[in-house]
Amino acid sequence: MRAILDASTRASTLTRRLLVFGRSHAFEPGAVEVDGLVSSLGAMLRSLASDRVQLVLRPGTRAAWVRADRAQLEQVVVNLVVNARDAMPDGGCVTIGTAHVEVPAGDPRLRGSAEPGEYVRLTVADTGIGIDAATLAHIFEPFFSTKSVGKGTGLGLSIVEEAIARAGGFIAVESALGVGTQFAIHLRAAEPAVDAHAATEARRQVADGSETVLLVDDEPRVRAVTARLLRESGYSVVEAASAAIAVAIVERDAAPVDLLVTDVVMPGESGFDLAHRLTALRPGLPVLFISAHAPESSAPHHQAFTEGSYLAKPFTRDGLIARVRGLLEQRRALRA
Ligand SMILES: Nc1ncnc2c1ncn2[C@@H]1O[C@H](COP(=O)(O)OP(=O)(O)OP(=O)(O)O)[C@@H](O)[C@H]1O
Ligand SMILES: [Mg+2]
Repeated sequence: MRAILDASTRASTLTRRLLVFGRSHAFEPGAVEVDGLVSSLGAMLRSLASDRVQLVLRPGTRAAWVRADRAQLEQVVVNLVVNARDAMPDGGCVTIGTAHVEVPAGDPRLRGSAEPGEYVRLTVADTGIGIDAATLAHIFEPFFSTKSVGKGTGLGLSIVEEAIARAGGFIAVESALGVGTQFAIHLRAAEPAVDAHAATEARRQVADGSETVLLVDDEPRVRAVTARLLRESGYSVVEAASAAIAVAIVERDAAPVDLLVTDVVMPGESGFDLAHRLTALRPGLPVLFISAHAPESSAPHHQAFTEGSYLAKPFTRDGLIARVRGLLEQRRALRA
C-alpha cells in the first residue's frame, strides 16, 4: 500500500503559532546552504540516532542555497531525524539529501503563497515502519502522536510544517507500510550569501561565552550531548544527574554558577521545584528549562520565570547557545 500526502502551506491559527514558536525565537530569514547546515548537525544527529540506525548524508551536486531561518531549519532536520529513528526500532537507515527541482505552474502542491520555479528539495528518508493512510491524514496536527505517553508530544511535525510555511515552502510525504517514509521539504532556491564566511564568523562570536553553567538532567546521553555543545562554545559546565545533587553543589558553593540549565521531568524533584529552590539560594540566577513537554501544559503556574526560559527537546546547538547567551546577557543588563 502506498499513501501520498502533500501538506503545503496551511492556514495556521494564532494559538498554534504561539504554541509552536512561542516566546522562543524571532524569525530571522537569511541565506542558508542546506547541505552545509545538515553536515554541521552531523555529530548531533548521530548522537540522536541509536547505534542501530545508520545516517547517510547525500549532498546535492550544486550548493543548495535557500532563504530561511537557520535555527528553525536545523530544528526541522532534527525533528525529522528523531521521527525516522523512532520509526526504526529494529534499526535501519536514514538518508538526508538535497537536490534542485523545477516545480511548474499548476503543480497541485503549490498552495498558499508557494510559487512555481526552482526549488531546493531536502529529503529525509527512513527504512522504518511506514505510515498508513488514516494516520497520514493527521500527522501534521499539533499533539497528534501514535507514540506512548512520555515518548512523543505530537509537536515535531507541526513545528516542521510551521517553519516551512513561514519560509514560503511546502512539504510532501511518501510512505509505504513496512518499507519506509520520505519527507521532502521544498524551499525556493536562493542566491548564495554575499559573504557566507563572515556571516558564520559573526554568529560564532556572538555565541561564545565563558560563564559556568549548572546542567541538570537525569538522562546521561542527553546530558553528555548538552554539556559538549556548551563546552564547545566556551562555557564551563558542572553536571548533575538529579535535583538533589544540583542543590548540594550550590549549597556547598562548589562552583560559581551563573546559569541553571535543567530538565523538567526527572525522578525525584522536578526541574521547576529545583529552580525555585536554587533561585531562593541565589536570587537572580537565570534558569533555562529543557523539556520534551510543552511549557503551557506542564507549567501554567510558573509564569515567574522570564521569557525565553524554555527550550524544547530535541534542540540544536544554535538554539541552545542562543538561549543560554540571551539569558546571561539579560542578567548582565539587569545588574548593570
Ligand atoms: N518517519 C516516520 N515514520 C513513521 N511514522 C511517522 C514518521 N514521522 C512521523 N510519523 C508519525 O507521525 C506522528 C506525529 O509526528 P510528530 O513528530 O508530530 O510527533 P511525535 O514524534 O509523535 O512526537 P514529538 O515529535 O513531539 O516527540 C508520529 O507519532 C508518527 O505516528
Ligand atoms: Mg516527532
